[in-house]
Amino acid sequence: MSSETFIEKIGRQQVEKGLISSRIRTKEMKEDVVLEVINLKKFFNIPIPFETTWFMLAFVAAVVVFAFNITIGLSIMGGVVVLYFLLPNIPPFNKRPKVAHLKAVDGIDLHIRRGKIVGLVGESGCGKSTAAKTIIRLLEPTAGSVYFKGIDINRLTSVEMKEIRRHLQIVFQDPYASLNPRATAHDIIIEPFAIHGVASGDEASYKVLSLLKDVGLAPHHAYRYPHEFSGGQRQRLGIARALALEPDFIVMDEPVSNLDVSVRAAIIQLILELQHKMGLTYLFIAHDLSLVKILCDETNVMYLGKIMESGTSDEIFENMMHPYTKALISAVPIADPTKRSKKIFLTGDIPTPINPPPGCKFQTRCPLVSDICRLEEPPARWYSKSHVAYCHNIEGGEESPEAYVK
Ligand SMILES: Nc1ncnc2c1ncn2[C@@H]1O[C@H](COP(=O)(O)OP(=O)(O)OP(=O)(O)O)[C@@H](O)[C@H]1O
Ligand code: SF4
Ligand SMILES: [Mg+2]
Repeated sequence: MSSETFIEKIGRQQVEKGLISSRIRTKEMKEDVVLEVINLKKFFNIPIPFETTWFMLAFVAAVVVFAFNITIGLSIMGGVVVLYFLLPNIPPFNKRPKVAHLKAVDGIDLHIRRGKIVGLVGESGCGKSTAAKTIIRLLEPTAGSVYFKGIDINRLTSVEMKEIRRHLQIVFQDPYASLNPRATAHDIIIEPFAIHGVASGDEASYKVLSLLKDVGLAPHHAYRYPHEFSGGQRQRLGIARALALEPDFIVMDEPVSNLDVSVRAAIIQLILELQHKMGLTYLFIAHDLSLVKILCDETNVMYLGKIMESGTSDEIFENMMHPYTKALISAVPIADPTKRSKKIFLTGDIPTPINPPPGCKFQTRCPLVSDICRLEEPPARWYSKSHVAYCHNIEGGEESPEAYVK
């Protein structure tokens, strides 16, 4: 009798269909890697409204002229309409793109090992939430692969994906927006049971009460609506829903950023307790670097859709190499009044991620910028087998992590 789980079965089928190479099959055997993200990209296409704006202005002008002189007005209107349809086909106007590419995530690599908390930090708008949603396939990637226990989830059919989705959950950045305002806590938590056919009737209701207890809510909370909860309680409800299907991996997208300090501590405590109790693996997204330092086993620093530096949290916080990481960490307040850190102030705002210039993404704000940074993507420099930074102008390191493998 075979003890093959559903995920193993899907993996085997994918290999048999030739969708997963033998190289990946080897990775699948690597028990400790739950999620492997390879060169993941997610671009958004932003329409350029130039043609429409131009057309509207010209048409309004023609209507004004029409009020004074019908013949001239009609002629201008006709000309505007003809030009509107002709111009995009005539050089050089036909070369102008109709859309701009907003590179929200531009080629990130991550290895998330079982039972670990992996941090993803960076300024607002750098692409953290987009990366997380693309990793669990709530957004389709433009390019790249995500392997969950060795299976390339972007190649799965919707039926296969439904089964995998049970194991990949998310606690959203804004719990209020992600909870149905017309459903009670009971109905919100029970919904995944119904979708996945896990439990029904009294058994499902019993599981709801047990989940509410797990996240520190009382049985009577089951019949409240989201607006009847406090911010911290709503976040607990979001966590209960994420736990409903007993996942392996949960994205925590800034789970405490909207909460005050005391509630924040309680939610962090809960997140840690659940991890120990259920053997969960987290991708923990946060702005608060001091929290990431104490909570996360590994830390990834992101800027404008790219990872700038990755390593164990000790490596990132004690031996940071990248100028951006140094600037971010220098801004973290130090609790000890006898110690002072030298603050690095970044000049200018984050540039727009729409059609960014070639070279390093950090070039417009970097204190170490040089000519090569404006021309070429920075190479990886490895400072241990787990610590990598991408920069042209930092000292030391090796070209490959293999250099540290004895
Ligand atoms: N659906 C969308 N269409 C177009 N652009 C989008 C879309 N979603 C996000 N973006 C853009 O992608 C970039 C990254 O957004 P994202 O929400 O991933 O950032 P973030 O790092 O999570 O920010 P925050 O810390 O504020 O939550 C931003 O420039 C944002 O405006
Ligand atoms: S590659 Fe150049 S611009 Fe980018 S971080 Fe390094 S020094 Fe700064
Ligand atoms: Mg976000």
